[in-house]
Amino acid sequence: MKAMPICEGVYWVGAIDWNLRNFHGYETEKGSSYNAYLILDEKITLIDTVKEGFAGEMLARIASVIDPAKIDIVISNHAEPDHSGCLREICSVAKNAKVYTAFGAGVKNLTAYYGDLGYVGVKAGESLSLGKRTLRFVPTPMVHWPDNMVTFMTPENILFSNDAFGQHYASDERLDVECDLPEAYIQARKYYANIVQPYGMQTGKALAACADLPIRTICPSHGIVWTKHIPDILALYTSWVGNVCDDTAVIVYDTMWHSTEAMAHAIESAFLACGLKPRLYNLHYSHNSDIIADAMTARYIAVGSPTLNNNMMPSVASFLTYFKGLTGNRKKCIAFGSYGWGGQSPDQVYEALLAAKCQPLLPAVKQAYKPSAEQLEQITASVIAAVQSDQASL
Ligand code: FEO
Repeated sequence: MKAMPICEGVYWVGAIDWNLRNFHGYETEKGSSYNAYLILDEKITLIDTVKEGFAGEMLARIASVIDPAKIDIVISNHAEPDHSGCLREICSVAKNAKVYTAFGAGVKNLTAYYGDLGYVGVKAGESLSLGKRTLRFVPTPMVHWPDNMVTFMTPENILFSNDAFGQHYASDERLDVECDLPEAYIQARKYYANIVQPYGMQTGKALAACADLPIRTICPSHGIVWTKHIPDILALYTSWVGNVCDDTAVIVYDTMWHSTEAMAHAIESAFLACGLKPRLYNLHYSHNSDIIADAMTARYIAVGSPTLNNNMMPSVASFLTYFKGLTGNRKKCIAFGSYGWGGQSPDQVYEALLAAKCQPLLPAVKQAYKPSAEQLEQITASVIAAVQSDQASL
């Protein structure tokens, strides 16, 4: 377990969690990393720690460069336990280390988790000299917890951005110029969609606060470090914050006897006829956290459920609950579903989409029993008309 150099005197000393497959409900098929950074200066400084259980790996990486007992300063950019989980271990090894965190929320949250470790609260614009280097603190509240802040270091111009620009992506390659870059972008989008998306407005403010910083390197708290591709990841974040849509349409459904599935395909045909790129997700086979990434950038979303015991299917309710928590960008939507007798589910889906601040293109599309070919054609025609009307209004 060795420290990995980022630049002279700055090392990645985090932990790689190759086996992580679930991060509080978010499916992490590529694992993750918990990134901590060591700065060698007159004051030896550690930026963030790692998740509980990974202290040994972090301490071994630090020890490959310097005795961990010599750490003078720990910066906690965020109190969530995947970054603060080994604070006690570090403080018990580096007995004289001072822990700096966001004034107010940072001190409060770290105290709640770990008791009073003598935290020093820092405010916007405050700076801290390490010797040759200076740290400047920029609070980024609600990106994505109240305590979040980022730390900018001169003269190397490194932004320690914590969760922002991160990816759940386990890799031994640390830099964007050496990793599987397309995979890093996929995981960055999925990360934003599942973690940061509800706080787009606050993220926009954070991007603005960092806009004047001459950033040369972005060191997030998960995944790879951005160097050459900083303009690309900043452009992606700007488009996600701005709710920029592409030409895709996401269709999410569950089905009992394939009738709702047939309706999903009828809607797929409509989207295709309108020049859109449909993405179909049967909830039996797809995870909410994957769907949400495509839904975030899709122009339209259609959600369908059969009626089961007077309700929508539990899988659809689960998706809609997750979707409601993460979105809020008034996406254009369609509710649909088949039924045998009660027929409540399409209207329930419609109401749930309204509650998620979506804008329905047409009333809930309902179909009793197995739809005939003619009925499916009618569904296709009605969706084409609704989409064309919407596109004409843009
Ligand atoms: Fe990666 Fe919000 O912690």
